[in-house]
Amino acid sequence: MTKPSDPQRMEKIVSLCKRRGFIFQSSEIYGGLNGSWDYGPLGVELKRNVKNYWWRVMVHERDDVVGMDGSILMNRAVWKASGHEDTFSDLMRECTYTHKRVRADQILPQSGIEFSFTGAESPRDKTRCEFSVPLVILCRKGEHPDSVRRIARECFATVASRKLEPDEIKSLTLLGEQSRQIENSCDYHPETGGLLSDARSFNLMFKTYVGATEDESSITYLRPETAQSIFVQFKNVLEVSRKKLPFGIAQVGKAFRNEINPRNFTFRSREFEQMELEYFCRAEEGMKWLDYWLEERLKFYENIGIPRAQLHVKTVSDEERAFYSKGTYDIEYDFPFGRQELEGVAYRTDYDLSQHQKASGKSLEYFDEETKQKFIPHVVEPSAGVDRTVLALICEAYSEDEAPDEKGKMETRIVVRFHPRIAPIKCAVFPLLKNKEMLVTKAKEIVALLRPHMNVFYDESGAIGRRYRRQDEIGTPFGVTVDFETLSEKDQQLRDTVTLRDRDSMKQERLLIKDLPRILLLRIS
Ligand code: GAP
Repeated sequence: MTKPSDPQRMEKIVSLCKRRGFIFQSSEIYGGLNGSWDYGPLGVELKRNVKNYWWRVMVHERDDVVGMDGSILMNRAVWKASGHEDTFSDLMRECTYTHKRVRADQILPQSGIEFSFTGAESPRDKTRCEFSVPLVILCRKGEHPDSVRRIARECFATVASRKLEPDEIKSLTLLGEQSRQIENSCDYHPETGGLLSDARSFNLMFKTYVGATEDESSITYLRPETAQSIFVQFKNVLEVSRKKLPFGIAQVGKAFRNEINPRNFTFRSREFEQMELEYFCRAEEGMKWLDYWLEERLKFYENIGIPRAQLHVKTVSDEERAFYSKGTYDIEYDFPFGRQELEGVAYRTDYDLSQHQKASGKSLEYFDEETKQKFIPHVVEPSAGVDRTVLALICEAYSEDEAPDEKGKMETRIVVRFHPRIAPIKCAVFPLLKNKEMLVTKAKEIVALLRPHMNVFYDESGAIGRRYRRQDEIGTPFGVTVDFETLSEKDQQLRDTVTLRDRDSMKQERLLIKDLPRILLLRIS
């Protein structure tokens, strides 16, 4: 069963991300840029840990996969051959007044009152605007008609193509108003309420010009997926790696899509990162490897802290699947805004290599030493989004519980239960008091001992309980405290020992300082 969406939880997560430096709006001081995000000091660590773990299990721990790092700009011919130039598009509809676009498949039926205004007049200079079509604004149930009139005035300013002062807009006289009840219609923009145009295709690739001239011959696109550079380098990588089928080529990198409706925080962005593997195999083994990779990918998410029960596998139907794919699974996760795709695992047959062979005239065939046959390999592709994985990890880890404050009074604690493997900071080190030089010196020695092995954080300011809380909120799994026992003021046996606190259980254990790197490495690897 799908979990109900929880907008309040999502709001708390977005606010934590900004407050603690995980994710900021891009170009924030200039009002932002829709669909672009910047990762702050903690976000960048989390993202790196996800990418590094993906690389570790998909490349380093395997004999049958090698990596590559392709360029974002490629010859336009790549995008013609792959089919992206002609078909990488969404059907979209446009608000006829504000020109705001919306994906045709994302418009939910709306009911309300449709207002039609046939014109408006500016009181200052009596400018009259005659609309060629009536200005239609849907007034949703419960919405006051005055707010609809306000929108109508703003639309007039747009239609009149002249800059009107806000108070001038307010005092426009609307000429001719009609209204009627609308039930379950998909013909109005979900945000502006304006009448929508018919659906038309909108290519999602960002077009750009390479070189000094801006003409047809210099057009190319920012890559919308990393996969294509793997296909076009297939022969080079095969030759240098001397791999035999089945084998894979992995890549992590940026991709760009001019999404019509970027939304749900970083979930649907215009600039994002992908982690893709193209696993080449024989045609007769395609379906076997598809199922194999689905299982591997589910294990990956479990190993970074998303339990199997929270992951849902959708078998993509024949109608929804790309025409060249013989089988596709979507791995979905219950985000607070609903169940959505995290990753696609697709059996793409020999479509991509065949297309590039045809268009380039260069052989992309594989030579089988044993059978002495040449053929184009088939491919299975697990394709994951870094940003979506990071968002799912934050959503999964965010929790609130009760913990005692300094005076023993119970208070709400925000605790982000990241798996230690992906936590941005692995261990925080605290001297019990900052004005005791020996405690501080010892704590700094521990930081130096741990730093070559992991990302650690030193904090001496504020009461110890507060310092723990700050770390709980950013998901640091372990906290080491240097106290007077460490200096063996009371008990010789405790000399050079510290307390190690576990974020989730809040339990503390006493350990020798020299054992810390080994014990922590075991727990975070
Ligand atoms: N090469 C296949 C491919 O690109 P896709 O399903 O379009 O397939 C793969 O994308 C993954 O990339 C998605 O499952 C998602 O995790 C991520 N992704 C796609 N579009 C995205 C967007 N606009 N914002 C963030 N992540 C996106």
